[in-house]
Amino acid sequence: MKILITGICGFVGSSLAAWFRQQPGVDRIVGLDSLLRPGSERNVEVLRRAGIDVIRGDVRCATDFEALPRVDWVIDAAANPCVLAGLSDVSGSRQLLEHNLLGSINVLEFCRRHGAGFVLLSTSRVYSISALAGLPLIVQDGAFVLDEGRHLPEGVSSLGVNEGFPTAAPISLYGSTKLASEVLALEYGSAFGFPVWIDRCGVMAGAGQFGTAGQGIFSYWIHAYAARKSLQYIGFDGQGHQSRDALHPLDLATLLWKQMNYQGVPPTRLFTVGGGGVMSLNQLSAWCAKRLGEHAVAINAIPRPYDIPWLALDSSLSESTFDWKKTKTIDFILNEILDHARQYPDWLDLAGGAIRGGA
Ligand SMILES: NC(=O)c1ccc[n+]([C@@H]2O[C@H](COP(=O)([O-])OP(=O)(O)OC[C@H]3O[C@@H](n4cnc5c(N)ncnc54)[C@H](O)[C@@H]3O)[C@@H](O)[C@H]2O)c1
Repeated sequence: MKILITGICGFVGSSLAAWFRQQPGVDRIVGLDSLLRPGSERNVEVLRRAGIDVIRGDVRCATDFEALPRVDWVIDAAANPCVLAGLSDVSGSRQLLEHNLLGSINVLEFCRRHGAGFVLLSTSRVYSISALAGLPLIVQDGAFVLDEGRHLPEGVSSLGVNEGFPTAAPISLYGSTKLASEVLALEYGSAFGFPVWIDRCGVMAGAGQFGTAGQGIFSYWIHAYAARKSLQYIGFDGQGHQSRDALHPLDLATLLWKQMNYQGVPPTRLFTVGGGGVMSLNQLSAWCAKRLGEHAVAINAIPRPYDIPWLALDSSLSESTFDWKKTKTIDFILNEILDHARQYPDWLDLAGGAIRGGA
């Protein structure tokens, strides 16, 4: 099997590439990356040493695909992945659309030309912000949790938000680029007869992630805590009760592998994929304090655009369809990040900058 990964030098793309390289029957992995993300350049040599071809190119540019070899599958992991993307002059709305939507269209055209399968790394941010904000929640042990004693709307259960949850706008500009890419992917797959899988991933986390306050929060928090950088609980009364689950990229890799090798007619092509545990920022600070000592977190009760109090994803459809199981618990993920933070105390300075504009 030959695989192309766009955004291969990013956190998820590089982790997937390294794992796929080890799988029997994978004879070539090629990656395309513009190295837009600060820190992504660090992965070029690491991937090349692992026998992976890394080509510098931009998914916005159709001709950058002309030199790429024919492959069996493309994993589309190139994007500006920040929920606040598109709101500032540094990373404006049109540029976001070009990276995330035009980029995916160019990948789909490539798949059409070569009959390659397409995997879209979509996001839980396709779900309606007002519907998420309206979920019945209570505070328990310093975290928002779902109030299961009250009526839960369609698409959410004690297991989390599932594929049936509403996607009505507003969902963030970022989320809308992914939702539009999902529709186009399903349409291209159906019109041109190539397989498509869409995975709406929740928060991804693990060692080597280029975390910022706006994206990659688990990594950012632990690195910032360890380096005694300033941290803030933003919005929700400044208590840090906002909670998320965390998915490790190697758990995603085993799911994608099952999808790319799937034989038969699946019940759907679209899945929500969440992690193995839910934690609030408040709980994350307590976790850090036990291992790194106390470090004060400031309170900033002013809400952040597009923020939501609670989000955990129900992966049961992926689990039953592909006989897939997550193996990385949230504790495993946090410890992995902590080890990395100890090894690279200046990681946030090296890699944590905002996505560069232009280029
Ligand atoms: N990290 C998460 O929590 C998360 C959650 C859900 C979905 N996703 C999706 O997973 C994918 C990978 O995310 P990540 O966390 O690895 O992000 P990342 O920023 O670490 O990696 C993205 C990579 O894409 C590259 N890139 C960006 N624009 C490009 C362009 N126009 N052409 C070529 N390369 C370009 C960047 O240089 C970077 O190496 C994204 O599509 C993201 O939307 C991520």
